[in-house]
Amino acid sequence: MPTTCVVGILWGDEGKGKVIDYLAADTDYVVRFGGGHNAGHTLVLSSGKLVLHLVPSGIVHSHTTNVIGNGVVVDPIHLCSEIDKLRLRGLDVQLGKNLLLSERAHVILEAHRRQDQWAEALRGSGKIGTTGRGIGPAYSDRCSRVGLRLGDLLRPARLRSALEGLAAQKNAWFVAAGLAPIDVEAVGAELIAAGDRLRPGIVDTGAVLRRAHAAGKRILLEGAQGCLLDLEQGTYPFVTSSHASTGGAFSGTGLPPHLLRVVGIAKAYATRVGEGPFPTELKDDLGNRLRIAGNEFGSTTGRPRRCGWFDTVAVRYSGAISGAGELVLTNLDVLRGFPLKLCIAYKLPDGTTTTELPAFDLDLVQPQLIELPGFDDDLRQVRRFEDLPKNAQAYVQAIEQHTGMSIRTVSVGPERQQVILR
Ligand code: IMP
Repeated sequence: MPTTCVVGILWGDEGKGKVIDYLAADTDYVVRFGGGHNAGHTLVLSSGKLVLHLVPSGIVHSHTTNVIGNGVVVDPIHLCSEIDKLRLRGLDVQLGKNLLLSERAHVILEAHRRQDQWAEALRGSGKIGTTGRGIGPAYSDRCSRVGLRLGDLLRPARLRSALEGLAAQKNAWFVAAGLAPIDVEAVGAELIAAGDRLRPGIVDTGAVLRRAHAAGKRILLEGAQGCLLDLEQGTYPFVTSSHASTGGAFSGTGLPPHLLRVVGIAKAYATRVGEGPFPTELKDDLGNRLRIAGNEFGSTTGRPRRCGWFDTVAVRYSGAISGAGELVLTNLDVLRGFPLKLCIAYKLPDGTTTTELPAFDLDLVQPQLIELPGFDDDLRQVRRFEDLPKNAQAYVQAIEQHTGMSIRTVSVGPERQQVILR
């Protein structure tokens, strides 16, 4: 049984929550492998909208075990409150049963959040536009080997010495930078209290997953953010601090490398939240109209998302780095009444044309666009590809042709059943 890995193809917010919810119906384990509560995965259930930040989207299915893998950075206070909210919504979240947390996952502290916001303020006009949730500083401390892991919360003596080590490194410059120092006593007490609550769920999830894989269980790896926000392969430095593409799937779970089916999720147009280059961005009224039509506002921060044309150059690049041979195309219904344009190449500042995503000066390329005829019909009730308006079909086929990726699933609305399978 191949493991399936779902990744966002551009800068996140492609509608992964809905697709994972849909795929989770046939899955035993749903596993987050990277990112933190910077993510916002939206599900539309019969009881209404549900936004998950840290808990995997399989939690709404009673038969799945949901795993927060070692590659995720966890704010334990946020996690406790997310679990409380899910329980208030009537979901049966049981730590140690249907929700497992890697003892190796690194911890986001309140100090990381303050450091994130401080660094952003310092960057001024060069800011990244982070979610301000402490993601980058938590991963930095992991790399610097001063981070705390969830398993530390269960070991008071270790926790104390790890916190003292971290405070020794940070407090000197925190104070110099005008930030309040880390109060080891207070932070330690808070973390131990959170650890007591989370204790039944904190286990060696890598061992659990390796056993599950050996036993032929169906595993779904839930990517967060998108390939172009990947720390190494994305639009650096305007990226997140984790390996959001498939590269993070094994190191972030403890599963051995094995054959994966990689599914890339792309919207029928492009969006980006935060700063950074976006070649097909529409900075005009059309972009505003698209934002309203698609309700393009961040599910984590509420920020308006930048909107633009579908970019086959960027999508093909992400398909190549992630290994995604197939795309799930979401939000096709949103393009009703809009002109349809596809970017098929970039013109570089030196006048040459490329179909490769450049590592530098992406903000200086000019998108080379082709226009296709649009459609005026409401697609939300359509369930068969042949029943889509001819122009919508042609648009999907043009995306396949220019990306070289097959599209077998098209989403035509936020609800579970608003899907076309070809
Ligand atoms: P950070 O992950 O908070 O450090 O933010 C780094 C960049 O990634 C910013 O441009 C954020 O807007 C973006 N980002 C982080 N998480 C998400 C997400 O889940 N969806 C879309 N963009 C995200």
